[in-house]
Amino acid sequence: MPTLLIVGTQWGDEGKGKIVDCLTLKADIVARYQGGNNAGHTVVINNDEKYILHLIPSGILHKGKKCIIGNGVVIDPKSLLDEIEGLEKRGVDVSKNLFISKNAHIIMPYHVAIDKASEMKKGDKKIGTTGRGIGPSYSDKIARYGIRAVDLLSEQTIRTSVNHSIDRINFLLEKYYSVSPIDPEKTIADYSSYAERLKPFITDTVKMINNAYDKGLNILLEGAQGTLLDIDHGTYPFVTSSNTISGGACTGLGLPPKKIDNILGVVKAYTTRVGGGPFPTELKDDLGRFIQQKGGEYGATTGRPRRCGWLDAVALKYSCMINGLTGIALTKLDILDELDNVKIAVGYKYNGKTIDDFPHEIEILWGCEPVYETFDGWKVDTSGINNFDDLPTNAKKYIKAIEEILGIQVMMVSTGQKRNQIIQIAEQF
Ligand code: GDP
Ligand code: IMO
Ligand code: MG
Repeated sequence: MPTLLIVGTQWGDEGKGKIVDCLTLKADIVARYQGGNNAGHTVVINNDEKYILHLIPSGILHKGKKCIIGNGVVIDPKSLLDEIEGLEKRGVDVSKNLFISKNAHIIMPYHVAIDKASEMKKGDKKIGTTGRGIGPSYSDKIARYGIRAVDLLSEQTIRTSVNHSIDRINFLLEKYYSVSPIDPEKTIADYSSYAERLKPFITDTVKMINNAYDKGLNILLEGAQGTLLDIDHGTYPFVTSSNTISGGACTGLGLPPKKIDNILGVVKAYTTRVGGGPFPTELKDDLGRFIQQKGGEYGATTGRPRRCGWLDAVALKYSCMINGLTGIALTKLDILDELDNVKIAVGYKYNGKTIDDFPHEIEILWGCEPVYETFDGWKVDTSGINNFDDLPTNAKKYIKAIEEILGIQVMMVSTGQKRNQIIQIAEQF
C-alpha cells in the first residue's frame, strides 16, 4: 500500500516525529501537509543524537528520502532557513532532498506581531498559541491577502504583495493593538534575501507527489498538531488554524482521497495538552506532575509545561471516526510503568447525565467529568522492549482494552524515545 498517513489523535505531541522516523525506513517520500513551525517533532536516534523538526518532515534524517513541505503548510522562511542550517551543521544533507510547494503560504513578520498582540489583548481568554504567526497567516490566506512561496521568486512580487497589505496591517497593529508598526522596506529586503536562499527548493510538489504515487513509490504523510486542535473538528476556539485531521492531507498536498491507502493514528498512552482549553481527563495533582516529569512533557517548540491526564477514549473514538483510522501507533507506554493502576475515560458525566459522544459545545466540554475504567498497573520497566510477547501481562491487557474500546488494531507500540525502542506488530508498507 503506497500511501500511509500519520495523524495525531489527541491535542498534539503524541510522538508523531518518532513514528514517522521509524517508518521512513521503508518510505521514498515524506510530506508535511499543514501547520507550520508551531509543530515540534522530536526524533531521538541514540543517546547523543536528538533532533527537533518544526517545518521539515521528520524523514529528513534518513539519507536520500525526499521530503516535501506541501501547499497546506504555512512557512516562516527565517525559521525554515535556521532549521536547514542547523541540520546541515550536523551533517544532514538537505539540498537534494527538500522540496517546497509553490503554493505554500508565507508567514510574514506582521503575522507574528498580530498573533502575539492578539493573545495579549485577549488576556485570560487567550488561546495560548505558540506565537509563531500561524493563525494570522492562515487568516490572510483565506482572506486572499496571502503571499505564497511562488511569490518569493520575484522581488517585484514581494514588494507588490507587502505594499498591498501593509497599510491595513499597520492600522491594526498601531490603532487596535497599540504596538509598533512593521517597516515595509525592511520586510521587503529581509524576504528578498530569504527568497534567494529558498529559491532552489521551491517547486511543483503536487505533480511530484502524484507522479510518485502513480509509480508505486511509498509515501508517508506527516500530520502536525492533533485532531482535537483541528480548526473545524477540534475544541474550538482552543484550536490551531489548519485542518489537522487526515482529510487535511488531500487539500494540503493536492493528493486525491483515493490515493491515501492507510491512516495510522498516533495515540499517546495518556493525554497531554499545551495551551488553554478544556481537557476532561486532566490530572491537576501529584500524579499529573509525575507523568509530566517522567514523560518530559515540556513543549518541543515553546518549552511550556504540558498539562497531563489519563487516556480519553471518548475523545479518541471521535478522533478514530473523523480520521478513518486503519491502525494505531501507541506511544510512551513506558511512562506509565511505575503506576499502581492506569485509567481510561470511557464516558463523561454532565449535569448528572452520561455522555458517550465527544460534545461539540465547548461549555459542555468544560463541565464534563470523566467516567473511568481502571486497569491494574504492570510495575515492570518496559523501556526498549521490541517484542509484543515480552511486554508484562497487564501492559498487554491495557493495549488490548484500547483496541477493544476503539475497535482499531494497535500496530506499533513505542517503548522509549530512541529509534530502536519500538514494537512493530503489523507491517505498515
Ligand atoms: P510530536 O509533536 O507528536 O512529534 O511529539 P513531540 O516530539 O512534541 O513529543 C513527544 C515526546 O515524547 C518527544 O520528546 C519524544 O522523544 C518522546 N517520545 C516519543 N515516543 C516515546 C516513547 O515511546 N517513550 C518515551 N519515553 N518517550 C517517547
Ligand atoms: P505538534 O505538531 C501541541 C497548540 C498551541 C495552542 C493552539 C494554537 O508538535 O504536535 P497556534 O500557534 O497553532 O495558533 O496555537 O495549538 N499547538 C500545539 N500543541 N503540539 C503542537 O504541534 C501544537 N501546535 C500548536 O499550544 O494551544
Ligand atoms: Mg510536538
